[in-house]
Amino acid sequence: MPVYLDHNATTHLDPRVFESMQPYLSGPAANASSLHRYGRIARDAVEQARLQVAQLVGCEAREIIWTSGGTESNNLALKGIADGPASAAGASVLYGATDHPAVMEAAESLAGRGVRVAPVAVDADGLIDAAALVTQLSLAPVTLVSIMRANNETGVIQDIAPLALQVHRHGALLHVDAVQAAGKIGVDIAALDCDLLSLSSHKIYGPKGAAALVVRGHVDLSALQHGGAQERGLRGGTENVAAIVGFGAAAELAMAELDARARHAQALRERLQSGLQARGDVLVFGGGAPRRLPNTLQFAVRGWDGEALLMALDRKGFAVSSGSACASGSGEPSHVLLAMGHDRDTAKGAIRVSFGRSNTADQVDGFLQALQQITRSA
Ligand SMILES: Cc1ncc(COP(=O)(O)O)c(C=O)c1O
Repeated sequence: MPVYLDHNATTHLDPRVFESMQPYLSGPAANASSLHRYGRIARDAVEQARLQVAQLVGCEAREIIWTSGGTESNNLALKGIADGPASAAGASVLYGATDHPAVMEAAESLAGRGVRVAPVAVDADGLIDAAALVTQLSLAPVTLVSIMRANNETGVIQDIAPLALQVHRHGALLHVDAVQAAGKIGVDIAALDCDLLSLSSHKIYGPKGAAALVVRGHVDLSALQHGGAQERGLRGGTENVAAIVGFGAAAELAMAELDARARHAQALRERLQSGLQARGDVLVFGGGAPRRLPNTLQFAVRGWDGEALLMALDRKGFAVSSGSACASGSGEPSHVLLAMGHDRDTAKGAIRVSFGRSNTADQVDGFLQALQQITRSA
């Protein structure tokens, strides 16, 4: 049986979530905007899910805007602000240098439209350089700063609150990409003090095709998609009711099981990390950061190419990633590791292991053994 160690790429659908979705997959046709009884049932289900997702992050239900994925949420945040009233005098966007491509490339696409766009540097552990951020905020007015709560490759967790203070002091809005953080660590929008926040269902054992952008009440956002009044006019289109219901159920379970999931993952991560470090030829990326996601470990074995190692591990039945699933196969080293100051060769050695609920200590031991066999026999 293959061992799945790639939960940051995506998670399997929790059977309890699937059960919650079934009536909306096979029941009577219902558009949540229809006024008849079937429409009203679908609307109630969508609103119940809105409440469940809002509770996961501590926002108001009406602040949740449904989207199709974390990628769309990030695009809506960046482009919606750049096109919105806050940018009347010309938009300017800053983003973390280790942010997900869904933020970086959304930002860079705005640069092509005359928006001032710049990355904010990180240190060797992947933490935002707060002094650099303050300098950039002071040089010229900034509309929006986007920073991820937890990095999808290294698992490094940013301390958002002090950065939020600086962002707001300089009159900018803050978007936090919490796609990887949610369900793995607590995400409390009040503590993060952000204005927009991205979430995605398929990272927390929910279905693909549902996600959210939290848009706080005071934020004026422009829609990217027109043609319907759904989602306060910010995201027109018939709702994916079954997927939204599943996202709601997954959010409720993630909240109820947060501590148990984190403890389970952290024990596996620590077992893996001590096994790797005992080899003496392994570098753990972001290992010096004060906090990392409990389930994530990214490392390189000296002298080994990450993709070659990934394929060899795959042949032995272990599914891992060499970085983010989005960049895999490109042959390019991870922009995250380059931004942290690693050279191209070191960055190309990256392997990411991300644990989930079904993994076991025996699987970690099996993984360490397989890695030993591969690297010894070369
Ligand atoms: C930090 C982060 N943001 C955004 C995304 C994009 O989310 P989705 O796959 O739901 O489009 C991902 C997916 O890997 C991610 O890790």
